[in-house]
Amino acid sequence: MQGGSMNILVIGQNGREHALAESYAKSKKVKKVIMTPGNGLTDFQNPKIKNYPEVEMMNFEGIVKICKKEKIDLVDVPQENIIEAAYVDRLADLGFKVFGPTKAASQLEWDKEWSRNFMVKYNLPIPKFKSFTNRKEAIKYVNKLNDKLLFIKATGLAYGKGVIRAENKKQAMEAIKGMSEFGKSGETFLIEEGLVGEEFSLFALCDGKNLQIVSFAQDYKTAFDGDMGPNTGGMGSVAPAGVVTDTMIRIIKAEIFEPLMQGMQKEGRPYRGILYLGGILTKGGVRVIEFNARWGDPEAEVILPAIKTDYLKIVEAVLAGQLKTLKVEMDNKVRISVAGCSKGYPRDYSKAKGKEVIGLDEVIKLPGITIFGAGIKKADKKFLVSGGRVFYLVADGKNVIEARQKAYQAMALINIEGDNLHYRTDIGWRDVERLKNQLSLRGIGLSEATWQS
Ligand code: AMP
Ligand code: GLY
Repeated sequence: MQGGSMNILVIGQNGREHALAESYAKSKKVKKVIMTPGNGLTDFQNPKIKNYPEVEMMNFEGIVKICKKEKIDLVDVPQENIIEAAYVDRLADLGFKVFGPTKAASQLEWDKEWSRNFMVKYNLPIPKFKSFTNRKEAIKYVNKLNDKLLFIKATGLAYGKGVIRAENKKQAMEAIKGMSEFGKSGETFLIEEGLVGEEFSLFALCDGKNLQIVSFAQDYKTAFDGDMGPNTGGMGSVAPAGVVTDTMIRIIKAEIFEPLMQGMQKEGRPYRGILYLGGILTKGGVRVIEFNARWGDPEAEVILPAIKTDYLKIVEAVLAGQLKTLKVEMDNKVRISVAGCSKGYPRDYSKAKGKEVIGLDEVIKLPGITIFGAGIKKADKKFLVSGGRVFYLVADGKNVIEARQKAYQAMALINIEGDNLHYRTDIGWRDVERLKNQLSLRGIGLSEATWQS
């Protein structure tokens, strides 16, 4: 692919960042995409992408040096810890063009107490909650409640581990005591009414004033099939997620995103960047579980490849406050991602560390299959495991059944030395069930489903 003249820096090393680098690299205006640090797969397939493996994500000075050395025209800040660390503001202060929300705008994600209070002020649909700094008071509060589902949440970022589900009062008390584990992030914590319903992740582009919903996905978070086992950073995802209907999108826009955008302007924190709604469809309608200030991981892996519009053009429109004049076009395929993990993840996976990942070179060449790297490094000509989530395999199809079949056929060709590969075999089950029901209502057999659009 011949490049243009722009040099882009994507900070990070996981599947989401790999997908972003590929999206930028597709733009004719882009000459090269630099990643700090990147992973073993990011600079393997695409000659436009180059890694700086020695420059870690939290090494701000190192990143600034790369920006100068590589004459970077645009920096994408896609991950919550560096957004909270004000990379967007600090890089902009140094004169770089940056994509991502400011520290003040991203408080929606990194401070759950502030975020919930904002949602109350602007009348967004949320569960009942109360915040605490004193554990004894929190225990007293729980003691007065009837036994019911509660969520105890550290207010700060905690690598996705700061939210504890409590089925009854006893578990809630334990969770409250456990908040000290999260250090500063858990000094303030929330106790929330537990909502019941199907969850989804919905993404909008925001330019400070205007917004545009791009797509929606479903993330499969637990380690084992049947939604069992401990929570992970994401075992797979599907987009577009069938749970989200056109009516829901209209309601979400009018009752959640528009008041949010106006509220953020009133608060002097206009929101510019990707806004991620973690939503739940309850019997009473859509409720906000949380907002994140970025693409989801592994949602990005199934949404970004579906965007037909030049990604750099989209980002430039957001930065120029001209989202109103841009229509983001998506293809009409369904995509599914399956995380290839080290056996033992999210607990002890030391046995898999350093082992060879076998079969990737061949699978990458299959039509309709993409591999995004995460905890993987390259040594000589081999790919070696360096983390719990090693890679994401993404397959597309006319519908979820076709995409899933393709994904698992390809997955079967990959392993980690010593049989150390673990993955879920039921990613997408909600949408598969939904589609089966729709097809049977229409009198269409399952064997025909793979070619029905
Ligand atoms: P968070 O880190 O805020 O995304 O929370 C992690 C997960 O906890 C969410 O994806 C939900 O599955 C669940 N969760 C959090 N808060 C609630 C709530 N109030 N009701 C139901 N589920 C929740
Ligand atoms: N998929 C969950 C997250 O990115 O936070």
